[in-house]
Amino acid sequence: MPQFNINIATGRGLFPVTIGFEGERIDSITYTDGAHASPTRLLIPSPVDLHVHLRDFEQLQKETVSSGTRAALAGGICAVADMPNTVPPVADRETYERRLELMSHDAACDFVLNFCVDDKYSLSQAASVDPFFIKVFLGETTGSYVLEKGLLENVFMLRKPVAIHADIEGMREAIKYSKRYETPLHICHVSRREEVELIARHKDERITCEATPHHLFLSGGYTVKPPLGNVNDRDALWAALGTTIDIVASDHAPHTLEEKEHGAFGISGVETMLPLMVTALVRGEISFKQFYAVMHENPKRILRSHGFEFGFGIGGRADFSIVDTSETYAIDPTTFHSKAKHSPFSGMEVEARVVETWVRGKRFFTNGVCTNEARGAPIPALSKEP
Ligand code: DOR
Ligand code: ZN
Ligand code: ZN
Repeated sequence: MPQFNINIATGRGLFPVTIGFEGERIDSITYTDGAHASPTRLLIPSPVDLHVHLRDFEQLQKETVSSGTRAALAGGICAVADMPNTVPPVADRETYERRLELMSHDAACDFVLNFCVDDKYSLSQAASVDPFFIKVFLGETTGSYVLEKGLLENVFMLRKPVAIHADIEGMREAIKYSKRYETPLHICHVSRREEVELIARHKDERITCEATPHHLFLSGGYTVKPPLGNVNDRDALWAALGTTIDIVASDHAPHTLEEKEHGAFGISGVETMLPLMVTALVRGEISFKQFYAVMHENPKRILRSHGFEFGFGIGGRADFSIVDTSETYAIDPTTFHSKAKHSPFSGMEVEARVVETWVRGKRFFTNGVCTNEARGAPIPALSKEP
């Protein structure tokens, strides 16, 4: 039985533990005196990125399922949620099944899939699939998959979890329908103080939302949708982490350098999210409680509430990454595993390097490379208790 003596990041701080695992699962977690645990290596339990555009299909120049999921592992991420604004979009049953096959074959980390509804046909197709989320674009995005006017209420009438890309007006509408039809709603990339305030006023157990590292750390000078906010907006996002804002997700949206130079929206972000967030943690800019909520507890809660079996714990999946905090280094996008080797975080100093990523008890990433064991699978459904 493999064992680790390490400090684990929890909501109450770092604790030295011995973790034993058997096959894909964690067998034991025992608190220790820390004599065998390096003070600068932390175990992050089941880090996941619930907003990633893996491209592929007819956009191989931007990213492939293989390159994007290897980038995830290099970023310390064990599983991703794939976004459906591909070319062609994942907006009918046949393409959904083709995507599932492609991901099952090519993904290096574990995954769940989203499905896009943009017109009456995709709405009718959505009834026959069970994605993580039905994704709805209510505002401008990459690809022209904005939902046809008048269909938003029908999407909520499906009573399947809905994720939205929207401005504040769209958020307001979606919140109204989520409440009316008791349909789970996830609001993507919240970026403005007023949006945080709106969500805080209306939040219930079915409504969740996310912030991205770029909206948290940057204000201006880079093209993303929604646009970067100002310092006042960023302050509101940081203050709401772990309360109004449930999770941090990267919105990894790779483009070629040439496409970026022509104004494409999006950031190559899946490799920098964990180093940035762990840096904020070790610098005391966020508490352990906040870090654990947005990087572990809430992503796990969302996946489990949609019926997926995910999460660290005794008897749970042995998914984790190990981060070394012994040195400060500058982010260098030329080392990215993503095809998009450029980033607004280039040159920014961080204090957390991903050294290993383990998925289901196997080492998928170590010493800067993905191992031969790195083969992803769909996150399975929770088994129903008898
Ligand atoms: O910046 C963004 N890029 N925002 C989005 O909503 C879409 C994404 C993309 O797919 O390129
Ligand atoms: Zn979006
Ligand atoms: Zn996105």
